[in-house]
Amino acid sequence: MSGEHDLQGHCAVVTGGGSGIGAATVRCLAQRGAAVAVLDRVIDGARAVAEEVGGHAWEVNVADPEATTAAIGAAAAAMGGLTDVVANAGFGLNKPLHRYSDKEWRLVVGVNLDGTFHTMRAAIPLLLAGGGGNIVTVASLNATRPLSGEAPYNAAKAAVVNLTATAALEYAPTIRVNCVSPGMIATNLTTIITTDPHFTALAEQGTPLGRIGSAQEVADVIAFLCSPAAAYLTGQNLIVDGGAGLPNLQADTIVRAVQERYS
Ligand SMILES: NC(=O)c1ccc[n+]([C@@H]2O[C@H](COP(=O)([O-])OP(=O)(O)OC[C@H]3O[C@@H](n4cnc5c(N)ncnc54)[C@H](O)[C@@H]3O)[C@@H](O)[C@H]2O)c1
Repeated sequence: MSGEHDLQGHCAVVTGGGSGIGAATVRCLAQRGAAVAVLDRVIDGARAVAEEVGGHAWEVNVADPEATTAAIGAAAAAMGGLTDVVANAGFGLNKPLHRYSDKEWRLVVGVNLDGTFHTMRAAIPLLLAGGGGNIVTVASLNATRPLSGEAPYNAAKAAVVNLTATAALEYAPTIRVNCVSPGMIATNLTTIITTDPHFTALAEQGTPLGRIGSAQEVADVIAFLCSPAAAYLTGQNLIVDGGAGLPNLQADTIVRAVQERYS
């Protein structure tokens, strides 16, 4: 699918494009024919990925509204337009809800939710000026299956799913807006799990498809959403989690035990 050149003529911006899912998305969009600009808070990573695909890199913290507007404007000007935006920059913290300081809460919500809003707000006039396009946001399985210790991240990602649906309503039929919600994916965010055989085995056991996903597998879904193959898809939240969010742990465990006893 990635060799198809179905994104020829597209001009895309990927936030958080210097690492992990964002970097895989930059490569995937470029492979399919798009010009891609890489935005990231860490400029070295962004430059390295941009160089690989012959694109440009901008240093920006998406929690900063003015800087985000300026970087997206500059990226669109450098590419000669804007057709696709992937609002992927994000990160989380882990601690009990009552121990989050105001500053930590604002930091996590500021990047994951405000950052997505800033990215959309900057991109929409440019997408409209060019006759339309796509926005893909990146939330998380946590948006619908909350993880302990990640209150601001879970809440921000749930809000990103709603923001996506709201924008899809407001800008249809000119701009399609969809969300991708990864489950556990091997990136810098998950090295604590992927570098430990015990934690990796637990993750594999908890995933119906039996393994941790790759950044490429999420990037492929993002590229699909930007492509003509997704022309009738908008406002959706595609969960890319190897089925990890499916089990109803309580009932499924009991039903399996009952089946074992009576089979
Ligand atoms: N890896 C997973 O298991 C997983 C699961 C669910 C959701 N996600 C989401 O996927 C997205 C990408 O994460 P990843 O796993 O590739 O992580 P990653 O750490 O490998 O990459 C994230 C990139 O975003 C950049 N970034 C972080 N904050 C930023 C900011 N304020 N402004 C600009 N850039 C910023 C980082 O510098 C980094 O290059 C995030 O939104 C994350 O919440 C990841």
